[in-house]
Amino acid sequence: MMIFAISFTFFLTLSSSYASVQDFCVADYTAPQGPAGYSCKIPANVTVDDFVYTGLGVAANTSNINNVGITPAFSAQFPGLNGLGLSLVRADFAVGGVGPIHVHRGASELILVVEGTIIAGFIDSNNKHRLHSLTTAQIKKLKGLLGGTN
Ligand SMILES: *[C@@H]1O[C@H](CO)[C@@H](O)[C@H](O)[C@H]1NC(C)=O
Ligand SMILES: *[C@@H]1O[C@H](CO)[C@@H](O)[C@H](O)[C@H]1NC(C)=O
Repeated sequence: MMIFAISFTFFLTLSSSYASVQDFCVADYTAPQGPAGYSCKIPANVTVDDFVYTGLGVAANTSNINNVGITPAFSAQFPGLNGLGLSLVRADFAVGGVGPIHVHRGASELILVVEGTIIAGFIDSNNKHRLHSLTTAQIKKLKGLLGGTN
């Protein structure tokens, strides 16, 4: 019998934004996109569904070279996040799954482990590695130039 455990993790990425001067700027996918994100829907066309996203309830397929399935909740999937400098990702790690080292310029990342155990960390600007093992219901904040998870 094969034992197949999955670490189920949420990554929350935060960065500063300019949209906080208004209540919201729900993405209008039909209008042109600018450097700050999607154009805003006119308020009369905004619905409550624009602020609800249910796509993170389903595990992603981990059958790939990294053994990780990623489900994003970015403004491209979740219109209510547009312009807020906020995004969320569900990462499903099969045993041995690796999140390749990546960069979040000007942003911070929070990891919440929902199930299982992962090793997560970042490399700071002095090239020092800061790794930590995280298990269910533990949260780690990654701040620095590089963040990687496995
Ligand atoms: C608002 O929604 C209506 C109905 O879907 C659509 O016809 C109209 O083009 C929308 N207006 C804008 C400015 O997006
Ligand atoms: C997962 O992805 C692999 C590789 O693309 C594919 O062969 C497999 O059918 C997928 N499994 C599911 C449950 O979709």
